[in-house]
Amino acid sequence: MSLHVTRTLPEDATGAALRADVVDGLTRTPKSLPPKWFYDTRGSELFELITDLPEYYPTRAEREILRDRSGEIAAASSARTLVELGSGSSEKTRHLIDALTSLEAYVPVDVSESALLGAGQALAAERPDLAVHALIADFTAPLELPDTPGPRLVAFLGGTIGNLLPEERAEFLSAVRGLLAPGDALLLGTDLVKDERVLRLAYDDVAGITAAFNKNVLSVLDRELGADFDLDAFDHVAVWDARHEWIEMRLRSRTAQTVKLPGVNMVVDFAAGEDLRTEVSAKFRPEGVTAELAAAGLELTHWWTDAKERFALSLSVAR
Ligand code: SAH
Ligand code: TRP
Repeated sequence: MSLHVTRTLPEDATGAALRADVVDGLTRTPKSLPPKWFYDTRGSELFELITDLPEYYPTRAEREILRDRSGEIAAASSARTLVELGSGSSEKTRHLIDALTSLEAYVPVDVSESALLGAGQALAAERPDLAVHALIADFTAPLELPDTPGPRLVAFLGGTIGNLLPEERAEFLSAVRGLLAPGDALLLGTDLVKDERVLRLAYDDVAGITAAFNKNVLSVLDRELGADFDLDAFDHVAVWDARHEWIEMRLRSRTAQTVKLPGVNMVVDFAAGEDLRTEVSAKFRPEGVTAELAAAGLELTHWWTDAKERFALSLSVAR
């Protein structure tokens, strides 16, 4: 079996980046935290539980497309290297890996070391013919990809692009464009605008798994910064922002409270009912996806949806 693991962030860079993000986010009005800090080992486990929830349709919808269309995607790309950004468990990606008959290398990229190693080990054991280069890296920072044969297919699934703000998306897509040589392609998963109630339930399930996932970011701060966030003192809130067409996840302080964060020498006050914004999950329309890709120098060549048109996969190439 062949599994190489590369950490592009030195061990301490993660700590320094967390501290900088926390200081920046908790001194803003409204307070906010960037979503990548959700995904410690527990966070990645909770996300996997979310993907099985009856209310959380995106994973099933995207899996349906990958199951039905991987042959077409493979024919259009004939990739020898598959790079996957924010790969998590790589579970749905198996359909694609199996369909890409010329595939020699798989490069999963994720900040979650636990998710990456679990997926990488399983895949390397199952597919001894495949070189798996697992990259522990932040996909919003410049990426150095291993030297593997082209053509290259870059996959960004799960609707994770919706977790970036519009300006961050523009910057991200331009950076991806820079990774593509002639003959390479981007496979992008985008969740689509739909009934508000369906959307809100997907981010506020009855069993409370999404609430636990959202609050887990506070556990990360408690552990990494010695903070004293009481998870029971916050409520999980998911609201639909119709103007931006995104779901916004927040943690709402139940009471007026003061939280200490010794790791960043901070004391932070929350008013009763004050929100901490933890993540947006933007929903897309076909025109919007085409336009954002075009603005980054990418041309959309294929568009596939699930039967209920809840989720889309698009393939695009450098113009
Ligand atoms: N692609 C998987 C997982 C989606 S969840 C699926 O579709 O089910 C989002 C994934 O992106 C998580 O595994 C998380 O650890 C990773 N992630 C989030 N922000 C990241 C960042 N800035 N850089 C790299 N990985 C990131
Ligand atoms: N990429 C996922 C999405 O936007 C991430 C996600 C799912 C998420 N459920 C969440 C993030 C709940 C924060 C809270 O669908």
